[in-house]
Amino acid sequence: MSFYTKIVRPLLHIFPTESVRNFSLSALRIFGGSQLGEWMLSKIYGYRHPSLEREVFGVRFRNPIGAAAGIDRDARLYRQLGSLGFGFVEIGTITPKPQSGNLRPRMFRLPRHKALLHRMDHPNCGIEKAIDHLRRRAHGRKVVVGANIAVGSICPPENAAKEYLRTFRPLYQYVEYFTVNIWTLIGSGEEYGPEHKELIEEVLEAMFEFRRGQNDYRPILLKLSPDWSQQIVDDMVSILIDTPLDGLVVSDCSKQYETALTPKARAQMTDCLMGGSPLLDRTEELIRYVCSKMDYSYPVIGVGGVMSAHDAQRLLDAGASLVQCYSALAYEGPAFAGRICRQMAAPARAAEKAARATRKSAK
Ligand SMILES: Cc1cc2nc3c(=O)[nH]c(=O)nc-3n(C[C@H](O)[C@H](O)[C@H](O)COP(=O)(O)O)c2cc1C
Repeated sequence: MSFYTKIVRPLLHIFPTESVRNFSLSALRIFGGSQLGEWMLSKIYGYRHPSLEREVFGVRFRNPIGAAAGIDRDARLYRQLGSLGFGFVEIGTITPKPQSGNLRPRMFRLPRHKALLHRMDHPNCGIEKAIDHLRRRAHGRKVVVGANIAVGSICPPENAAKEYLRTFRPLYQYVEYFTVNIWTLIGSGEEYGPEHKELIEEVLEAMFEFRRGQNDYRPILLKLSPDWSQQIVDDMVSILIDTPLDGLVVSDCSKQYETALTPKARAQMTDCLMGGSPLLDRTEELIRYVCSKMDYSYPVIGVGGVMSAHDAQRLLDAGASLVQCYSALAYEGPAFAGRICRQMAAPARAAEKAARATRKSAK
């Protein structure tokens, strides 16, 4: 048990979930806001080892562990999250206009399950402010930044392609990849039909068209939901194969959480989505499924239920090239990303040590 899980976490859990989230992230932003603070964070929490580096969809990552969308939703924390040891940060979800999301309370924890429930509906500062925050990136691109983009909460399908372009275009020069969040368009998929597949193709085609006219190439990924039927998942995989889409993010929070709740909690926590530990099996299964469907020929970012190096390795073994986490930051604390990286690099470190010993004894 770490100091965080033994002392800090029980104290934080006295307070409402979203207040703790906002307090912790503000403290991180302020403390890591200066170069000295950033340096201190990376000395305390960060970890680097060459064996963790990789290139995925043409982008170089210093390690495969990323901060999932929803943590840095206003693009104000990516540098600090990089100092904590994350190899990449997915900012957003960013929508064209600022939106405040649903009324509070809208975020809850289920400590016994290491899960978070939420009905946030993408509160964020909107594209203009996000760009302001990203302009500071010019001073050094230490951590890879991706942007998770969506349409606003109310968007008629005929405007969707134009709405996505309103965030995609201005963000293009500031981030290394995009994740297209289509939850607002098809939700958990109960009413999904062929017209939705056409809509998604139309939305993506507008982005591909813009990208064709640019000097730099930005990979575009689509984020899946763990609740979608096999038909929807198959459609998304066929879009991946038939269009210039670059990869998938597998997957997201789930609506299947009722069994984890007591009847009293169920009354308060209606219409939520769940992230955290209970998602791991489904995430692994879905990664395996999509990877085998597309013959392991496109990159997948695995996300859902990762709480340890062992969990991250399960998703990588299932076919993911990178892994993201959200709930682990709340349950395992700020040392989480660095700790996972250190554990993942242990075999390479042991091999280096053995090679050194062999060289020494040969002398
Ligand atoms: C409170 C909360 C807010 C989230 N906000 C977003 C979001 O804005 N956009 C998005 O694509 N995913 C969002 N997610 C989903 C996460 O990015 C991630 O896919 C999901 O939580 C599963 O990962 P985890 O099990 O590590 O939490 C959110 C998750 C939580 C718990």
